[in-house]
Parts: sequence; C-alpha cells; structure tokens
Amino acid sequence: MRTNEEMFAELDAFIESVGNSPSEMIAILHTAQGIFGYLPMKVQKHIADRIGVNVSQVYGVVTFYSFFTMQPKGENVISICLGTACFVKGSGKLLEACENYLGIHNGETTEDGRFTITTLRCVGACALAPVMQINGKTYGNITAKDVPGILETYMKKEKYDN
Ligand code: FES
Repeated sequence: MRTNEEMFAELDAFIESVGNSPSEMIAILHTAQGIFGYLPMKVQKHIADRIGVNVSQVYGVVTFYSFFTMQPKGENVISICLGTACFVKGSGKLLEACENYLGIHNGETTEDGRFTITTLRCVGACALAPVMQINGKTYGNITAKDVPGILETYMKKEKYDN
C-alpha cells in the first residue's frame, strides 16, 4: 500500500504536468480521486494551494459534480441501477436487500470498510434489468433473493481478490 507522501507526490507530478493551471482543475480532481479514492478536504486544500485558488473554489467544483466524492469508499463498491428499465423490473428491491443485508443505507460504507452502496442511472445493460454491479462486474436478471448469496462471495474474498 502506498504512503500518503507517495500519493501526494504522484498528485503533484500530475499538477505540474498540466502547468499548475486552475483551468485544469477537473482533470486534477479526477486524478486526485483516482489516487486517493475520494477527495477529503486536506486533498482539496493541497490542490488549491498548488494551483493558486481559494479552497472554496475547489470545494464548489467537487460538490457540483456527482462523480466526485468526499466520502471514502469501501473495498467493494455495489452500484444498483435505478434507471427506468431496471427500476420497473425491481431494482428498488435489490437496493433494499443490500441495505438490509449490510445494515447501511445507499451512499454509506460499512464500518469495516468492506462495502459501499451506491446507485446509478442506466449502465447501458437494460436487457439484463434489473442490474447490480459490484466493482464494475455486472449481475443481471436477479431478484432480491439472489443478493445475500452474491454479497457473501465478496465477504469471503480477500482484499483486491476480485
Ligand atoms: S436502466 Fe438499468 S441498465 Fe439501463
């Protein structure tokens, strides 16, 4: 696992490669989220200092775009599609089953850091509705009854053994 210093060094190298330019803020935030997994205030402050803007400007961009997150994600990210085709076919029930099984709500991470539940709008697999993804792997045509069994396989997996 990389140290904080190594991660900040990687971020700094990217910021320098784009000329410490405030106009590259979105690209910088994407890179930072890729490195740290999320965008805590200390990372936003660091970026603001490097590109010479007020941290409130960085915060404004982070909170405006839904693909940026200030919350750390779990090792396994569950994404339930709530697009129309999936919702009509019962993806709301899949979400409920995940929430009940893990004891957390949509947008939250389990205390042990193993699972985060998120929702999406149409992942382009409507023919498989209702769709749930875990770490990008798609599970389609499933019901709420299938959810515990699927989640259990991830509980047994070692970290990064996907
Ligand atoms: S609505 Fe879920 S994949 Fe399209």
